[in-house]
Amino acid sequence: MPTTNTRSSARTRRTRSTNGSASVASKTATKKTSKTENGSDHGHSQLEKLFTDSLKDIYWAEKQLTKALPKMQKKATTDELKSAIEEHLAQTEEHVSRLEQVFEICGKKAQAKKCDAMEGLIEEGNSVVEETEDGSMTRDAGIIMAAQKVEHYEIATYGCLVTFAKTLGLDEAAGLLAQTLEEEKEADEKLTQIAEASINQSAEHEEEEESEK
Ligand SMILES: [Fe+2]
Ligand SMILES: [Fe+2]
Repeated sequence: MPTTNTRSSARTRRTRSTNGSASVASKTATKKTSKTENGSDHGHSQLEKLFTDSLKDIYWAEKQLTKALPKMQKKATTDELKSAIEEHLAQTEEHVSRLEQVFEICGKKAQAKKCDAMEGLIEEGNSVVEETEDGSMTRDAGIIMAAQKVEHYEIATYGCLVTFAKTLGLDEAAGLLAQTLEEEKEADEKLTQIAEASINQSAEHEEEEESEK
């Protein structure tokens, strides 16, 4: 069971970690808009602005991932991990186009805004590759860890976006975002399975280099 998650609807507000923040944002936005309609985004609610900004953020992140994943795939050791990454790359391309559909539903132009968190996570993935030996199982264990951090970020983001979309009455958008959310969760679980099936065990037998402290 993934840790961050959002299967429950925004309306229930009975939730776990990420939904908690969604509920707070939702309450705040409702309060403010009923008073002043002061959202800077064409008079829409602050929640709608937060929703749109978050879409731009994850749109940038997904696009970056379509560039980062092929590099990770090349550096991976096992065919199993390579094919899992390849499969998720195809899904990630679909995530980009779903986000474009969501922008369209919202009547907005698809726009990317730099996501510092994803930039950092991708950077961390690159460091793992640099710090592990080519052809080692430890390399794969490290790539899996980096990739799961990415998946969890995406799960948290899409979880909140689904609840925001539902709160805003954007049911079609919520449906699209929920499809992506499910694929992120599946990718995360698949990575766990791959790691636990043999990679972690094999990595455990790899000796540390002499030069390491
Ligand atoms: Fe994605
Ligand atoms: Fe993903």
